[in-house]
Parts: sequence; C-alpha cells; structure tokens
Amino acid sequence: MIYIGNYKMDIPSKEYIEDYAKIEKGNNMLGLALPYVYLDRFSPLLKDNNVLVGAQNVTNATVKESTGEISAEMLLDVGCNFAIVGHSERRRDKSETVSRIKEKCEQALSKNLCVVLCVGETREEYENCNTSKVLEKQLKDVLNSKMINENNMIIAYEPVWAIGTGLIPTIDEVEIVIRHIKSMIERWAKCNIKVLYGGSCKPNNAKLLKSAQGLDGLLIGGACKNVVEMQSIINA
Ligand code: PGA
Repeated sequence: MIYIGNYKMDIPSKEYIEDYAKIEKGNNMLGLALPYVYLDRFSPLLKDNNVLVGAQNVTNATVKESTGEISAEMLLDVGCNFAIVGHSERRRDKSETVSRIKEKCEQALSKNLCVVLCVGETREEYENCNTSKVLEKQLKDVLNSKMINENNMIIAYEPVWAIGTGLIPTIDEVEIVIRHIKSMIERWAKCNIKVLYGGSCKPNNAKLLKSAQGLDGLLIGGACKNVVEMQSIINA
C-alpha cells in the first residue's frame, strides 16, 4: 500500500518531521506533501528515511518570466519526488480547470516529477448520481497523455464532500469508483496506474477503507499531522 500525507497550509516542526521519518512502514510506501517553503529544509531527512517527498502543487507555466510560480524543475532541485495536482481545494478556490490541470501534469511528467492527481465529485454531483461522468471529465484528457506510465502517475479518488468532513463513502461506493477509474486507466493510459482513496481517512475507519478491493493506498489530510494517527492508519 501507498500512504501519502497531505500537510496542507501549516507549519511543520522539526520534531514532527523527525517523528514522521521514523514511522514504521513495513512493506508500504510512505510519502509526505509539504508546503513549498519547507521542502528544501526537510526533504533530506525524509528521503534518508525512505519517505517520498511531495509538493502540494506545481505550475503549468512554461516560461521563466512567471513571477511567483514554482516549476517542476525547482521542485526536483529541492528534493521532491512528486507533486499533488488538481486537489479539490485548488480546483474550487484557484479556478483550476481540467485543461490547466492537464498542463500541470504534462509540465511535471516532462521533467520526470511524479504526479498524484486528485479527482472527485462534489456533494451535489454525488447526490445527482453524476460521479462517473465527473470522473471521466477529470481524467480523460490527462490519461490520454503519451507521457504517463505506471511509475510516474498515481490517481487519488477524493470525494469533495468527504474531505475534512468526517464523512466517507460506503465500501461498495469506493469499490465501484475504483473499478471505474481503473477501467478508464486501462482504456486511455493503457498501463497499471495505482489508485488511492482520500477524504476523512482516520485511525477508526482505516481498516474498513483498506478493505476496498482494488485500493492501492490512502491520501491522508488532517490525520497525517499526528504521527501516532498516521502510524495507526498504516497498522490498521
Ligand atoms: P482529510 O483531507 O483527510 O483531512 O479529509 C484529505 C485531503 O484533502 O487530501
């Protein structure tokens, strides 16, 4: 399984990073997506302990005259292994469209920075039974890119209504979505990309979520800030 923490917009202490680096992974892969400004400081310690280091965004800009933007090359330079792209908080608050997200993925992949691409439906789309349609729209163009392979891309299914709310879908719902995403991967990307679940994953529901067939791992927001919780999610 793959476990990725999404630290979001907060200040990580040195002690937190040291504890995170000591999490017992077993045969699992562990990653942590930090705010840009902490990557340079903390990536060596994390990488020395086999924790993959990620950013929470990457630019789609292609020219150096892009004030304030952070490119895939810059992220690689400070030790990043991957970038989260298309998180629903950015789709919602930063007007990130499907085409901009595709550009971001291509920018990252062309420089050999791996991508964790987030997709998921809003509460309204869920209630109107539009989940499949929404996911197809979010995935089709990206998955058709020739640059994708099973080593440089991970998809994270994160129902928007489950993020930070304490709500999670049923295991049947998770399994149906994973099957659907994997069939799109097979049809468009023609390779074996891994699929994670994200949204209110906590120690008390991790075992249940991990029982979903076809699930390859978890993307964890709130709970990743507590190393004990992160460890119990992995152990669940
Ligand atoms: P959450 O966040 O675990 O706090 O719901 C998940 C995410 O936003 O990636």
